[in-house]
Amino acid sequence: MAFANLCLALFFISLGLWSSQVASSRPIHYDATSMRARHEQWIAHHEKVYNNLNEKEMRSKIFKENVERIETFNAGEDKGYKLGVNKFADLTNEEFRVLHLGYKRSSHPKVMSSSKPNTHFRYANVTDIPPTMDWRKKGAVTPIKDQKDCGCCWAFSAVAAMESLHQLKTGKLNPLSEQELVDCDVEGEDVGCSGGLLDTAFKFIMKNKGLTTEANYPYEGADGVCNKKKSAVSAAKITGYEDVPANNEKALLQAVANQPVSVAIDGSSFDFQFYSSGVFSGSCSTWLNHAVTAVGYGATSDGTKYWIIKNSWGSKWGENGYIHMKRDIDDREGLCGLAMEASYPTA
Ligand SMILES: *[C@@H]1O[C@H](CO)[C@@H](O)[C@H](O)[C@H]1NC(C)=O
Repeated sequence: MAFANLCLALFFISLGLWSSQVASSRPIHYDATSMRARHEQWIAHHEKVYNNLNEKEMRSKIFKENVERIETFNAGEDKGYKLGVNKFADLTNEEFRVLHLGYKRSSHPKVMSSSKPNTHFRYANVTDIPPTMDWRKKGAVTPIKDQKDCGCCWAFSAVAAMESLHQLKTGKLNPLSEQELVDCDVEGEDVGCSGGLLDTAFKFIMKNKGLTTEANYPYEGADGVCNKKKSAVSAAKITGYEDVPANNEKALLQAVANQPVSVAIDGSSFDFQFYSSGVFSGSCSTWLNHAVTAVGYGATSDGTKYWIIKNSWGSKWGENGYIHMKRDIDDREGLCGLAMEASYPTA
């Protein structure tokens, strides 16, 4: 009995310490020993393997810095979103950028291409826009995937938009192959794990007469040689793609009300790396380096509008693999540049 009470007392003392930390906005610091234990738990949970003790020591230091920064953020002024000690917690932000992004900013700004006469936006005159949309609830979105240590977000974003389009046209939700794009779409701007663009991915899919299934051509998380036999077994096709008029969240809304849309963003910030819940409102820039898919939109009970964004970092990142990003912000580019280079396939 006495033992149990003691534990309870200790529990309340540590709870007291914890809440005093929460109340202050001073940076949180941990001693190295307690943090090493926490790193061990994290290693076990994420099944991490380090090559040697030096690497482990180095990772442990990075882990400590990240945890302290994440907890300092969460204890500070409420920004409407929270960060979490996720699977990227032993990476510096620089390492994270190299491994998990992969959108190459297009060399020609969209401003130029949208002045081209052939730019068509089929949803330009759509006025019937539901107040909320969630394509997941309509069975049009495949489960969250994981690009792993390969910068081919562009392939995941393009494939996600195409899977949804295929479902809307045929009623069949069929996961399609990113690896086919990584291995076979290599003659132009797209270079597998070293990055690519959405429009060029759609162009390749048209030329290739479709994509095969994920099951037929599974994801490897690394560059490989194109398997022409597998690539020839088409499971879904597109007839074209269109760009959403740039820097216009209203136009993006018209598009997303009708189908999931591929969008490019800055996904490189510390806050984005460790986003865990809530409506993300930055910090980030408009330097586009990541591609994701807008699969809906909505608003919180306090009226904060958001986009529902499907990411490709596994279901343990963010809100089960998704992020809510603030919608209708003052900047025309959209939060993290999400309205700058959005496009969708057509069938
Ligand atoms: C939208 O309406 C205008 C004016 O009626 C028309 O010229 C244009 O072609 C329409 N755009 C689309 C994409 O339907």
